[in-house]
This record gives sequence, C-alpha cells and structure tokens, in this order.
Amino acid sequence: MISRRQVLAGASALALAPLVGRASPDDILEAKTGLARVVHSDDYPETAVWGFNGSVPGPEIRVKQGSTIRKTLRNSLSQPTSVHWHGLRIDNAMDGVPGLTQDAVEPGEEFAYEFTAPDAGTYWYHSHNRSTEQVARGLYGLFIVDEPVQIDIDHDVSVVLDDWRLSQDAQITDDFGNLHDLAHAGRIGNFVSAMVSPSLTTVKQNERLRIRLVNVANDRVMLIGLHGLTGLIVALDGMPLERPQATDHVVLGPAQRADFVADVTEDVGQEVMIAIHERGEGYALVDWKVGGVSARAARDTTITLPQNPGVLLSDASGLEVREMLMEGGAMGGMMGAMFGGRRMGMRDMMQQGQVWALNGVAGMPDEPFATLDMGETIRIPMRNDTAFPHAMHLHGHHFQEVFADGTMGPLRDTILVDRGETREIAVQASNPGDWLLHCHMLSHQAAGMKTWIRVKA
Ligand code: C2O
Ligand code: CU
Repeated sequence: MISRRQVLAGASALALAPLVGRASPDDILEAKTGLARVVHSDDYPETAVWGFNGSVPGPEIRVKQGSTIRKTLRNSLSQPTSVHWHGLRIDNAMDGVPGLTQDAVEPGEEFAYEFTAPDAGTYWYHSHNRSTEQVARGLYGLFIVDEPVQIDIDHDVSVVLDDWRLSQDAQITDDFGNLHDLAHAGRIGNFVSAMVSPSLTTVKQNERLRIRLVNVANDRVMLIGLHGLTGLIVALDGMPLERPQATDHVVLGPAQRADFVADVTEDVGQEVMIAIHERGEGYALVDWKVGGVSARAARDTTITLPQNPGVLLSDASGLEVREMLMEGGAMGGMMGAMFGGRRMGMRDMMQQGQVWALNGVAGMPDEPFATLDMGETIRIPMRNDTAFPHAMHLHGHHFQEVFADGTMGPLRDTILVDRGETREIAVQASNPGDWLLHCHMLSHQAAGMKTWIRVKA
C-alpha cells in the first residue's frame, strides 16, 4: 500500500533533494556532558560524565553485517574530539585518529562518518582524542554487527566493563595525565562497573545467553568469571572462533572483547553471576536470580558463529620478521630513547611526559614501523622489556598470534603482552592506509607507546 505521504514525497522529489545527505537525529552522535548513574546506590549522587548523546555508554549502534553506517559526530564539548570504531575493518579515512586520518573535531564542529561494516561481531566506538581523559569520562559505546542469521539464544546481553577513579561523592577525579600513573600501570580506578543491556532481573535454568563482554577501561586488565553458567567463548575481539573454547573465565585487557554463549545451569532460587577476580577474591559485577526452569530442554553445546570474510593463516613460517621492543616506564630497563630524533635519557623523557618507547622511539615516529603492500604478511615479535603488561592494538586489521610451537591463534585486534614476555603476531595487510599500532592502556599511549603501519593501496 502506498500512503498519501509517500505519493507527495515522490511528486516533490526535486524540492527534497537538498535534504539528501543531511543527518537525521538518529544519525547524530553528540559528544556532550551529562549525568550517569555509575554507583548504583542512593547514598551517592549521579556522576558527571562526558558521553555520546550525553549518556554512558553512548547509544548502542546495532546493524546487520554489510550495511552502511552514517553517523555525524557533533562536538558540544570544550575540547576537540573524534570517534574511532574499534575493531571494525573500515575505510582508513573514517578511522578517527587525529593527526593520522583526520583532524580532531573542534568544539562546535561536526564530522560525518560513513562506512560499511564488513564483519559481524562485538565492537565498540570511543573518542580517540585526549583519550586518557575523554574515554575515562565516558566517551564510548557499543557497536554490534549482527550475523545474517542469528544463533539460537534466549537473551543477547552486553556487559560493558569500566574502571572508574571516583571521589568520595562519586565524581570522576580530574587527575588525568598524572606522571606516576603514566609511568606505572596507568590510571587504575577504585570502582569497577558493569553496564548491562538489556537489564535482566531474572533468568531461567536452561536458558541460553549470549554475553558480550567489553573492557572499556583505560588501563585495567580484568579477569572475568561466569558463575552458574556453563558455556563457551565463541568470539574474541569480535571475530568468531573456529574452535570455541569451553571455559567459564576470560582475561580482558583494555579494549578486548569476549562473546560467550552460556546456559544457565544454576538451581532455581540461586544466583547467576558475572564477577571480577583480583588478588584471589571475586566481586560480583552482575547477578541475576534464577527464577524458574525454561520449558526448553538443555541444548547441544557445540555452537560456532559463521566466519567473517578473509582467510586465516595456518602457518607463519618463512614470513619476514619485524621485531618490536617495548621499553620504558618506571622500574623498566630502558636507559634512553629517541624523542623527536634526539636520544634522551629517562629523566628528559619524564619531563616530556613521554616515558614509553617502541624500538627506542617515544611518541609517534615520523616513519612507519612497517610499510606493507596489500596482501603482504609480516611477523612482529613483541618483546616486553618493561615491568608492566601492555595491550597492543592495531587499527583497521585483525592479526593472529604465532605461538611458540608454530601454531596460529584466532583473529584479534588487541593482544596482551605481559611483563617480561614476548608474544608474536602475524599481520596480513588487507586494508590500505596509515594505521595506528599502540598500547591500549590509554595512559601508556598518551605517554609515548605508539607507532603506525602503512599499507600501500
Ligand atoms: Cu580502541 Cu587506537 O583504539
Ligand atoms: Cu601499555
């Protein structure tokens, strides 16, 4: 049936033409101040935040695989900002990195992002300007790309995990860029929150949940456990695992994601929990009461998601090796690094606030770490010669870990490299442009731990 309104729109198509390309309210992501209920207790006030459309997390963006997304960032903050679409293998010009792919968007200005989402999975978006402050204040949101065919589940729940440094009255402390934090484990907070959507009050025994865990914390590594749930990790960093892992816990460095498919196995009347484990203790971040038994019988536990486009490497032998040495920070072994082309001692570096280096360079180097042709693959062994873990993230690509026995890991966009450890990745250049490669402990990134890779068109 054609409504009168549509007929009129057709008749006046010419008059409407100037509207084409203008963002509808749904397409606006406005970076602005707001209030959020971070601490769920009436004893505390709401927390003043910076959020997309004023909320934390920002609006959930959810699209079907292969669709085109248009979002106009409107900056109503007092600082320049930008949006990076973390983990999405999109057009370089839309990657949101000031100084590399675009200029930061000044207060009062707008920037129109438009791209196609090639991969299904759990992604997120966040500010990529002064991110130590802007992400800590709440400028992030979920970006979910649905598989063409949904898997059989009862609830699809996302759990955004953040680490906040709050004052006594639940306000974000504004000690960003504190040199002690930058040179150590980063700006670790005193309050971990789980923002759950949709919010469930009860679940039923035998119900199957897809749980999308996203660590959006600046710097905190989280060991997350599921309790009263039995299942599998089916995807990491958005990408489906060829062989899902049966487990009830996962370690997530900053920016990492894990998708679980898990069945409620706890008894009726008991509680199902998602907890964070630290120093031998567990704290429940999420708890759902088991309020009955599902009419469905317990289901088959072999479940895999359809693979995203691209070919996985099964072997990295014979590939060119480009070593990366990570140095710096407090208690590190680095004696000095190049900064702005000049060799600097640790004391000078501290004064510049650039205390971490990759291959002896603190801060963004003029020359790329590697220049690759499309389709070329290299191995990057990353040696962490510092006293802290680092979560290395490559933009615009997913990479595979090369294990010591030569086998290859699943596709990831962020890899945690513990202190003293060497972890090796294989990167297949599949997306042309200049791509940032940096530590996603945002304090470390701000303090020099970044470089970039050029993929020639
Ligand atoms: Cu999640 Cu360079 O970013
Ligand atoms: Cu780091």
